[in-house]
Amino acid sequence: MIEVDRKAFLASVGVGALELMDPEEKAEALEHYMLDQIDEAALQQVPGPRGAGNLLRASEFPLEPMPEKPTLVDFFNLRLAAKSHCLQSATHALRSGYPERTVMACLLHDGVQGLIRADHGWWGAQLYEPYVDERITWGIRYHGALRFYPDPQVSYEYPDLYVRIFGEDYVPPDYIRQAAEYATSHEWYMEARLITVCDLYAFEEGVELTLDPFIEIIERNFAHPAEGLGYDNSPSAHMWRTIANPDKPL
Ligand SMILES: [Fe+2]
Ligand SMILES: [Fe+2]
Repeated sequence: MIEVDRKAFLASVGVGALELMDPEEKAEALEHYMLDQIDEAALQQVPGPRGAGNLLRASEFPLEPMPEKPTLVDFFNLRLAAKSHCLQSATHALRSGYPERTVMACLLHDGVQGLIRADHGWWGAQLYEPYVDERITWGIRYHGALRFYPDPQVSYEYPDLYVRIFGEDYVPPDYIRQAAEYATSHEWYMEARLITVCDLYAFEEGVELTLDPFIEIIERNFAHPAEGLGYDNSPSAHMWRTIANPDKPL
């Protein structure tokens, strides 16, 4: 049973307004107030799976409309997740003189988390696969596994953040360990490893960065479909459409 906080209820209706109501209207106002409280309590009790991205969770903020033929930049600005983190990561890659495809990989590496967070390396790779160099998506796919394993040769240490997220004694499941082993012995290892390295420099708060330095890099490294992302019949077009409009009931 929801406890009615008298003060909060009065504040929500306004004391003056309440005085003007007849008993029936008062009862109705109280009922609305209690229904709102129940909704909120339900949200708190059922926060949703932690693997779901924000686009698939309840939000009080309506999504901004997308243009008719959306580009990667539109998705980046209006839908994809971890914008600041990805910009910081790509900026580190750029300043470190890493190959342009690594800069691009860093810019894209966590964006799919708007849709889904679980196994985001795999989801992200699949989302971008039809549009970029294979090494970019290879790197994105395996950064998800390699981030759990230090590599002193490139000064990559296990991030403190993961102790907080996954707990002190977290041991990644076998499929992640196997993917990391596979990636470590692969000739493209650094495509993924450098994404994890740049990640370490990409969690600063209050850093204001824009896409401006990356616009030409995007143009050179992302094959934009003329129809707009989501409408080109590519193997991942449906993913872009769901990101553009996650509110479709079926
Ligand atoms: Fe990531
Ligand atoms: Fe990241």
